[in-house]
Amino acid sequence: MSARILNGNAIRDQIYTELQAEIAALTSAGIRPGLAAVRVGDDPASKLYVNSKIAACEKLGLASFHITPPASMTTEELLGLVNELNNRDDVDGILVQMPLPKQIDSKKILDAVIPEKDVDGFNPVNVGRLVAGRPALVACTPAGVMEILRRSNIPIEGANAVVIGRSDIVGKPQALLLLHANATVTICHSKSKDLPGIARRADIIVAAIGKAAMVTPDFVKPGATVIDVGQIVVKDAAEAQRIFAKFPAKLESFRTKGSILAGDVHPEVVEVAGAYTPVPGGVGPLTIAMLMSNTVKAARMRRGSRAPAAASSRT
Ligand code: GUN
Repeated sequence: MSARILNGNAIRDQIYTELQAEIAALTSAGIRPGLAAVRVGDDPASKLYVNSKIAACEKLGLASFHITPPASMTTEELLGLVNELNNRDDVDGILVQMPLPKQIDSKKILDAVIPEKDVDGFNPVNVGRLVAGRPALVACTPAGVMEILRRSNIPIEGANAVVIGRSDIVGKPQALLLLHANATVTICHSKSKDLPGIARRADIIVAAIGKAAMVTPDFVKPGATVIDVGQIVVKDAAEAQRIFAKFPAKLESFRTKGSILAGDVHPEVVEVAGAYTPVPGGVGPLTIAMLMSNTVKAARMRRGSRAPAAASSRT
């Protein structure tokens, strides 16, 4: 048996089609949602991520403001910039790309983005609203995972869901979203005992640990849905061999480039699972799609009755 592949690119395209209609309606009402993306310094991975986010805005016709202050800036200076963006009427969403340089107090910065513009869903006010089941801007990756499950008709209500990883950005909000969708949720982490045994009880596994191919086939109940949030660049040849021994094209790509992208889930899980998200092309595309969705939602919420009604029921 081979698992059904849950294609994140196709689901992203569906969401973009819906968003384009919503953005067109907002634009005719004189509202152009805008996203400000702040990248401090020159971290190459952050550059790549933020450029993709700006490109998505351009594709969808959202206004975007790409702000790139120097790595040497202070917490106070960045707080000043965030406050300026908080007060700008043409900015509906503010994203401060993480990680920030060491001298900057990241928590202070995340707390400073006003909840109404917090399209990352990282401000504690939005986290609290999520806990309480009230309308909120929700962190993009876990929200994207819910879109994949719902749009792929994976039953959530009554399902045993195991979330592996307890980060503020993915694991914790993911568990809450699954709970609100009436799953029975278990959160596992590095100190959990018998992780494979707990995972084997799951109908849905969400792996968000950041350890390449840690979720091996013995973690998976036959037929379970396995969602892979991990994105790890593997540079070690023995590690590449451990992960991709049965995937010669991947090994060939590793030999050519000297590195290869892996998820938290071992690819041989495909032989046991009922459905799974590949890396790349699974959860990744949804993170940016949900950022776009949150920006439109933030514009709608902030501009209240001036905005035409929403057509969709995204998280
Ligand atoms: N760095 C890695 N992922 C993210 C994200 O989703 N948002 C922000 N702001 N920074 C990140």
